[in-house]
Amino acid sequence: MNVFVTRKIPQPGLDLLAKECTIEVSPRQRVLTKKEIMDGVKGKDGLLCLLTDTIDAEVINAEPKLKMIASYAVGYDNIDIPAATKRGIPVSNTPGVLTETTAELAWALLFSVARRIAEGDVFVREGKFEGWAPMLMLGQDISNKTLGIIGAGRIGTAFALKSKGFHMKVLYTDEQRNTELEQHLQAQKVALPQLLRESDFVSLHVPLTKTTYHLIDEQALQMMKKTAILINTARGPIIHEKALTKALKEHWIFGAGLDVYENEPEISEDLKRLDNVVLQPHTGSGTIETRTKMALMAAENLIIGLKGGIPPNCVNKEVFQKKSTM
Ligand code: DGY
Repeated sequence: MNVFVTRKIPQPGLDLLAKECTIEVSPRQRVLTKKEIMDGVKGKDGLLCLLTDTIDAEVINAEPKLKMIASYAVGYDNIDIPAATKRGIPVSNTPGVLTETTAELAWALLFSVARRIAEGDVFVREGKFEGWAPMLMLGQDISNKTLGIIGAGRIGTAFALKSKGFHMKVLYTDEQRNTELEQHLQAQKVALPQLLRESDFVSLHVPLTKTTYHLIDEQALQMMKKTAILINTARGPIIHEKALTKALKEHWIFGAGLDVYENEPEISEDLKRLDNVVLQPHTGSGTIETRTKMALMAAENLIIGLKGGIPPNCVNKEVFQKKSTM
């Protein structure tokens, strides 16, 4: 079984793959172009790709032998799932193993914005600190505030549960009721406008879909409190970034913490100039332990799929229904 890996991932994942497959890892330490991915999958049975790779119908159909795609990420908006399904190719992701890690980064951003940590660090390093001052760099309290979770799936739930020690009121939006949050935190499921109007901290945990694209636009930002903080560790295009830049510049809200961007990795100079936003380079799952687990999970799914089994984290299981009725 021949496999193409689009970029180096933690070694335990590659070692696991190498036990069962012949692997080719792209030697380029950067995001590959579509053409490079298409060249890479030539003659391969399997593809291990990243969230930065565009896996559209053209890539999926580039190699007739291709049998399985394993993505090293939980979000798979970069992959044309219907095109893979049409070709009978199972696609897997890495859910669960990065839940707590991503929720922790969302909290790190929340703290950083509320208590102006990144700004304070630069201030001290630049030699501007002249001693304690009564009005220096005042932030926002976190305890006893209202936390708004947009998308109460795995990561949204883990993020909300970590608020327990801060005695917060928790509001959430989701298609389904989340009884775990309701039982443990007395969380209330509300409509988006109510959540935006009443929350002190709003954190995004929805996948990127046609419905969530630009969910947070100018109108949504105008509904938020002047003291509110917006956190995004999900996907950049969920926020209308130009509208957010305007909102931050004109202080419609207190600040924002972003791990993801609308046109990643490009970030507008306007946004970078603002000191009420903390910018992180998409490291939601970026810990040694979690990235290792993701690598192992992607490798395991790929091996099972290539051997004809149902990968445990397959996102298009209908591929197998189709196969069994054929
Ligand atoms: C994912 O896996 O989708 C995350 O964005 C990684 O940080």
